[in-house]
Amino acid sequence: MNNTQVPFLDLIAPHVELEDELVESFRTALRCAQFIGGSALGNFEKNFAAYHDVAECVGAASGTDALLLALLAGGVKPGETVLTTSNTFIATAEAISQAGAMPEFIDIDEETCNLSPAKLRTYLESCSRDASGRSVSCRTGSPITAVLPVHLYGQMADMDAIEEIAAEFGLQVYEDACQAHGAEYFSRRLNRWRKAGSVGRAAAFSFYPGKNLGACGEGGAVTTQDAELAVRARMLRDHGQSRKYYHELVGFNGRLDAIQAGILDIKLKHLPEWTRLRCEAAARYDANFKNSPQVVTPVVPAWAKPVYHLYVVRVQERDEVQAKLGAAGIGTGIHYPVPIHLQNAYSSLGYCAGDLPVTERCVPELLSLPMFPQITEEQQNKVVEATVQATDAVLSRP
Ligand SMILES: Cc1ncc(COP(=O)(O)O)c(C=O)c1O
Repeated sequence: MNNTQVPFLDLIAPHVELEDELVESFRTALRCAQFIGGSALGNFEKNFAAYHDVAECVGAASGTDALLLALLAGGVKPGETVLTTSNTFIATAEAISQAGAMPEFIDIDEETCNLSPAKLRTYLESCSRDASGRSVSCRTGSPITAVLPVHLYGQMADMDAIEEIAAEFGLQVYEDACQAHGAEYFSRRLNRWRKAGSVGRAAAFSFYPGKNLGACGEGGAVTTQDAELAVRARMLRDHGQSRKYYHELVGFNGRLDAIQAGILDIKLKHLPEWTRLRCEAAARYDANFKNSPQVVTPVVPAWAKPVYHLYVVRVQERDEVQAKLGAAGIGTGIHYPVPIHLQNAYSSLGYCAGDLPVTERCVPELLSLPMFPQITEEQQNKVVEATVQATDAVLSRP
């Protein structure tokens, strides 16, 4: 028997709401048989770029491909080391590996779970330099050429501080904005708000169905201010060709198909409203958990405007709390159960438990509560009541 009272995510409601428009766009694609490239792709790329205050958007087959395209088009080379975080979806590290580089993990900030600029600086200061002045990783023995912060859960990393350190140590900055469509931060340096995807040399977004802007299938995009980088990304996603069958680069098939682009363009118009609803839902959770200190709600620095792809709390005995919530019909998620540095896939990097103490302290306590634009106040009240009960029960155990 399905006793779901509150799902973790409702992917049906937004599609039912837009069904006529979405079907119409599918019909248009069928009737002109323009499945790859064409005006649907071009229009979406233009509109997505405008939404993120960037000059260029290059549609991609997935967020993972977008990350790979960003790194390759930006010039990350085989044998280099790229710094990132470990409490993220594995695709962040996979893209670095697929570019032929090596990921190395910097510990996170305990409050935001994003890359810690302080840890980044300390680490880089501890590294030796090669003949051309580049920092050399003690772990991989190779030059550190880039840093790839992740705007985790839809909240931007401290990009002012990261950019400053990157400039000092000669690193390129890329953004994993796969969870951060429309997120912003206030740059104290520039005295203005900046959007995710507009800060680094290039950024990657995912349109996986459950994302804030999701396709009805797979999709992703690279954003950049650099027109030449965008030209390379466009070639690389299309077998490196500049025109049909003339291949300038060794690329791959990483294209966003036209049907998904058409669907995404329709949904993009609703993104500001969906984001507003997510923020309202987050504010209700924050207020309702205020008197329950055993549920640690997300910390949002004054300079950040998150878009709440996920609403992640910290609780003791997380797995038990999650089981109790499941029994009460509340869907939850864990993002992510095992940090990448301790995944078997990356055992060759030689990390051990204890290497990233803050990450390892946070990971077992993180619990993602139901979060989607259509969530109702009544559903949230149930989530809050069940979470408080579950955490009280766990804490009051002798
Ligand atoms: C932080 C992060 N990076 C990368 C990706 C990869 O995106 P995709 O699943 O579209 O390949 C995701 C998506 O889950 C993600 O959350």
